[in-house]
Amino acid sequence: MMHPQPSLLAPAPSSPAQLLPLAARSAHTPAALVGDTPVLWVGEPFTAAGRGFWAKLEGHNPGGLKDRTALYMVAAARERGQLRPGARIVESTSGTLGLGLALAGVTYGHPVSVVTDPDMEPQVAGLLRAYGAEVHTVTTAHPVGGWQQARRDRVAELLAAHPGAWCPDQYHNPDNVAAYRPLAHELVAQLGRVDTLVVSVGTGGHSGGVGRVLRSFFPSLRVVGVDTCHSTIFGQPAGPRLMRGLGSSIYPGNVAYDLFDEVHWVAAGEAVWAARQLARTRYATGGWSVGAVALVARWTARTGPAEQRVAAVFPDGPHRYVGTVFDDDWCRRHDVLGHVPADDPAEITQCAEVVVTHWTRCRTVRPPRSAARPDGTGLTGAAR
Ligand SMILES: Cc1ncc(COP(=O)(O)O)c(C=O)c1O
Repeated sequence: MMHPQPSLLAPAPSSPAQLLPLAARSAHTPAALVGDTPVLWVGEPFTAAGRGFWAKLEGHNPGGLKDRTALYMVAAARERGQLRPGARIVESTSGTLGLGLALAGVTYGHPVSVVTDPDMEPQVAGLLRAYGAEVHTVTTAHPVGGWQQARRDRVAELLAAHPGAWCPDQYHNPDNVAAYRPLAHELVAQLGRVDTLVVSVGTGGHSGGVGRVLRSFFPSLRVVGVDTCHSTIFGQPAGPRLMRGLGSSIYPGNVAYDLFDEVHWVAAGEAVWAARQLARTRYATGGWSVGAVALVARWTARTGPAEQRVAAVFPDGPHRYVGTVFDDDWCRRHDVLGHVPADDPAEITQCAEVVVTHWTRCRTVRPPRSAARPDGTGLTGAAR
């Protein structure tokens, strides 16, 4: 259950024994600091009176949510002999997995190359280099598969150039899902019961891993997926996307379509509004996926039964978004400032019914037809 809270006004403890219940974790390795992240109650004024939700703050990991999967995928590949000691790790990432892989590289002694596109925040690219990773930035989008396909093509080139190199392939590697089981167990221990889970979807890793385990504890769990407009994952056509982390222009094999009771698409301006409101009212915030998830969790808490317990996963913190989501000039230039979302999402009955451009909900979730293609790629537009 919840850790004891020290009162700011309580008298200072006078012996080590009195401090024991408050002891912070100590670790011999940075990897041991991954997981066991806190949950924070998000209530009024961000939410309606008496209708809040619990946010799982994955930004408290050294890199972010993807530290969990990076360490797990690398450890599993080493155990299976797919990744030899000292061999290079090569992966396409918008940033968060890169930070996790850099941690895994330091932990297990592997050089790391990450492939990204020009929209990676300079702070993240700088941090990756500081952590010892090579950063390869593709400069031209693939004419059909967009930036994501261009990044995958560069990964293939790097793998060919480094014999013995290994690619985790986060989009299709089942270890990317299995890595998140502990996160679900943490939620059970922290909250006792979860009735509704609100999660963003990019590769499908954490939604699948957390959702599956939580549903085994709570069979009537409602799983609410959050995607960005112009993402292909749930059957919408690809289009240019500002939001990073969640969303895709391919069909990741890891998405557990059968798990979701509903999906919401959120537009970039709506996510900006929510991330900024959260920062002002709750201090704990993040970027695109946190804003989108918080918007949907806020609505879910208001419109569901009063006694339901809603958990929302916040994948990272705000720092890398200072020059984008939290920068007025950047937001104005990209026309994402001052977009106050509607009180309720628009509704469609089939995921591909219309092209959605603002917050929209669909309660019928099925794998899009193109997702059945064995390579996970389908018809995509010039998108990220
Ligand atoms: C910031 C952020 N949010 C959300 C996601 C989506 O998570 P998943 O890939 O587990 O679906 C990612 C994935 O990279 C991310 O980096």
